[in-house]
Amino acid sequence: MSITLLAIESSCDDTGAAVFRNGQLLSNVVAGQAVHEQYGGVVPELASRAHQQHLLPVVTAALRRAGIEKTDLDAVAVTQGPGLLGSLLVGNLFAKSFALALGKPLLAVNHMRAHILAHFIREPKPAFPFLCLTVSGGHTQLVVVRSALDMEILGQTIDDAAGEAFDKTAKLLGLPYPGGPRLDKLAQTGNPRRFTFPEGALDGYNFSFSGLKTSVLYFLKKETAANPKFVEENLADLCASIQHTIVQTLLKQLKKAAQATGLRQVALAGGVAANSGLRQGLQVLAQQEGWEVFIPDFEFCTDNAAMVGQAALFQYEAGDFASQLTSPDPRLKL
Ligand code: KG4
Ligand code: ZN
Repeated sequence: MSITLLAIESSCDDTGAAVFRNGQLLSNVVAGQAVHEQYGGVVPELASRAHQQHLLPVVTAALRRAGIEKTDLDAVAVTQGPGLLGSLLVGNLFAKSFALALGKPLLAVNHMRAHILAHFIREPKPAFPFLCLTVSGGHTQLVVVRSALDMEILGQTIDDAAGEAFDKTAKLLGLPYPGGPRLDKLAQTGNPRRFTFPEGALDGYNFSFSGLKTSVLYFLKKETAANPKFVEENLADLCASIQHTIVQTLLKQLKKAAQATGLRQVALAGGVAANSGLRQGLQVLAQQEGWEVFIPDFEFCTDNAAMVGQAALFQYEAGDFASQLTSPDPRLKL
């Protein structure tokens, strides 16, 4: 589409800005927030303050890298939700003010749809309809994607998200936040069948990961009472076994959903798509089931503004603009 668009993402702890022109991504800038590491999780109040500090430099860098002047922009897009209210407010107020000052339309984007539509930033792109498993620090959703504007949740987590399950169990093992990528790395040299933990695949297509966290907690309490060095001596096997449990849970529901819907294009989205166990498990399952698998580049899996821009382009095409009265919605539904 022949428009120039600025997109802004600020739903959690990453501040992002991206520029598209003629449907092509010209720049995608993300500033993470190291401030949360010392607390072992995202602190909402600190996230809002950091967005406030990062947003202008990030937007300026995105425009500069794209070689675009503010006055070249035809529209401004921003994540409306779901996410942390304070974080969303910073991005929303910035985007609204920017759009208002430029006299250009505003597009309000659903963060979870954006994760899915990240598949359309670069080739290879799935064709509609397809099945998408979105797995991030905040969400676990199994979605039938009929079009860019028509999606249906088949199943989702009833408690912790998959990324949260990785991060929380990693924390129990003493790994620094965010533990998911570290647990993944350690798992690569461990035995995934050494320890057994409860899977979280519920009847139907929903997930539950809180039982895994509790089970790991009590297991470690018991073992370390007998041997204080238990975690240290078994770290790789513990990581591999936890990862195996989470991955098997995800793949079990994905397989059920693909069989029930007859969809053979299967897509992964969200930060946990980086997990090596999930990628390998999915490739094996895809061969057995005859699926075509789609996983975006990592920079488009974790929170970023390019996916927000891509979703906004579909909305622009459909004439789905936001009013200046639009406000962020922390619990925005898909
Ligand atoms: O999509 P994302 O950047 O943020 C949210 O919207 O939540 O996902 C971040 C999540 C974190 O929980 C992080 O630990 C997890 O993705 N993650 C991983 C890996 N890389 C990132 N989890 C397991 N293995 C990985 N390699
Ligand atoms: Zn996200």
